[in-house]
Amino acid sequence: MSGSQISQDDIPDLYSRLAPVYDLWARLTESHSRDRSLELAAIQNGESVLEVAVGTGLAFEKIVSSNRYGRNEGIELAESMLRRAENRLSLSEGNYRLQPGDARALDFPDASFDVLLNSYMLDLMPEEDFIPVLTEFKRVLRPGGRLVITGMTRGEHWYNGIWEHIYRLNPAWLGGCRGIQVQPYLRQLGFTDMQREFISQMSFPSEIVFARAPASRN
Ligand SMILES: C[S@@+](CC[C@H](N)C(=O)[O-])C[C@H]1O[C@@H](n2cnc3c(N)ncnc32)[C@H](O)[C@@H]1O
Repeated sequence: MSGSQISQDDIPDLYSRLAPVYDLWARLTESHSRDRSLELAAIQNGESVLEVAVGTGLAFEKIVSSNRYGRNEGIELAESMLRRAENRLSLSEGNYRLQPGDARALDFPDASFDVLLNSYMLDLMPEEDFIPVLTEFKRVLRPGGRLVITGMTRGEHWYNGIWEHIYRLNPAWLGGCRGIQVQPYLRQLGFTDMQREFISQMSFPSEIVFARAPASRN
């Protein structure tokens, strides 16, 4: 895994350029993984759910419609992406709140959520942010709460390598995302019941990782 070439300070600018084309990209390369992440999350109507980095709201819209009587919170760092998510959700009848926020310092009390979803965000962050961010995820999940993280991973087939090559040419073309594996970090923090799936869509390699927050808070 190479280090991130994009600073978090540059994310709002980068994503204000990518926002208009993001949905097309996402449909072509990420839609299967995003759908599978929602299946693995198995949200029950009435639960308390947080999506970190909602982007344009592709998953958040589905979360809200499957959890109309529950609590749905979504946060996002880039204003341009958040605005698109707000537009997408504007006709939704479910109970939700979208707000600006940073995964590195979540503005929610401990043990607030049954489920936390996060897609294609850790893979653009510097590696030194992984443990602090995942520690925040663990803090806001109730003990035993479900975490589903989706992101670009290292390819399992030779043709997946083309994406690492594109990243080396210009990380911005991939929205700053490069292949990572999240399980070792989750293990380090005591997450349990881990399950990983690999999906290649248009040769773009993604992992979907399910885990439960530890039963005790140590
Ligand atoms: C590749 S997009 C994925 C968007 C959405 N999760 C999806 O799967 O469609 C990455 C998103 O992560 C957001 N992001 C990056 N760093 C973040 C942070 N520290 N806190 C919250 N959002 C962040 C970006 O602004 C961008 O919208």
